[in-house]
Amino acid sequence: MSPARGLILGIESSCDDTAAAVVDEGGTVLSSVIATQTAIHAEWGGVYPEFASRAHVASIIPTIAKALADAGTDGPSLRAIGVTRGPGLIGPLLVGLNTAAGLGMGWGVPVIGINHLRGHLRSADLEQQRVRFPAIILLVSGGHTFLARMESPGDITLLGSTRDDSVGEAYDKVGRMLGLGYPGGPAVDRLAKTGTPNIPFPRPLLGEGLEFSFSGLKSAVSRYMDRTPPPADVAASFVEACMAVLLTKCRRALQAWPSRALVIVGGVSASPQLRAGAQALCDELGVELCLPPLRWSTDNAAMIALATWDYLRLDRPPGTAPQLNLSIGDY
Ligand code: KG4
Ligand code: ZN
Repeated sequence: MSPARGLILGIESSCDDTAAAVVDEGGTVLSSVIATQTAIHAEWGGVYPEFASRAHVASIIPTIAKALADAGTDGPSLRAIGVTRGPGLIGPLLVGLNTAAGLGMGWGVPVIGINHLRGHLRSADLEQQRVRFPAIILLVSGGHTFLARMESPGDITLLGSTRDDSVGEAYDKVGRMLGLGYPGGPAVDRLAKTGTPNIPFPRPLLGEGLEFSFSGLKSAVSRYMDRTPPPADVAASFVEACMAVLLTKCRRALQAWPSRALVIVGGVSASPQLRAGAQALCDELGVELCLPPLRWSTDNAAMIALATWDYLRLDRPPGTAPQLNLSIGDY
């Protein structure tokens, strides 16, 4: 057993990636292994839950073993195991939770259930300690789209979330309409750069409040496809509509609650258009923009491991029961 016991193993299996990583308290990533299931789900144009569960079962032990070996440590030496307990797909979550529970018992190491959304939030501090408070958080992923205000890691208030689809879901569906495969986000962004944003797609709820809605935009793109427009112009116009909505809401939140930082996390934070637009907004408002390094924008276990350190300060950290309905303020 190592004398330091200063490392956490993170395990993430909430959706279509089996991931394990070893991270220290400062956010240094000693190892990160991701077994992606993209090829399995590509045929269906989205995640097929039962196939996801089976792929997690097959890859979770080798993924964890490689993460430990790459970090040069072993199970019994760990300070704790942090494993995603929700939100996510129930079958995939149970694979991660049950595996972690068994390993923790065998190794004599505590196992803590982690809120996936808090993982994304901490991704901005991986390999860098940058998030300053108070901060406005924009979380944009395949499962979620919301704005929150953060006074400290323990004090988070939800300001507004989507009433229907997430922005990542809209990207994935538009990607499918354009025949770009799954996931749609990166491919839509690339195609958008080659087109002209000349189609007036709607910008839902642009003029009011901090809530979002993306299903009407998605349907508008679907209807417009009947006119067989140039795909690159569709992508460019769709991305421009998304950016107008996301950045207008960020501006509104920053103006209502003056903050030191704007933190943008979740898979869609990999978008170069969003990164550039957010940088321009933050420069104008004199706010620091905190983005995760690109490789930590999409689902990974390093963010889960880093979030686990916050949970060690709780009197009674959550255990390994799945919890599908967690909000950003929950542990
Ligand atoms: O955070 P994430 O990996 O998983 C969830 O927790 O949902 O986010 C996945 C989402 C997908 O919808 C994917 O299309 C989107 O993030 N995404 C992107 C980009 N990379 C991934 N969206 C826009 N631009 C990207 N470069
Ligand atoms: Zn995620």
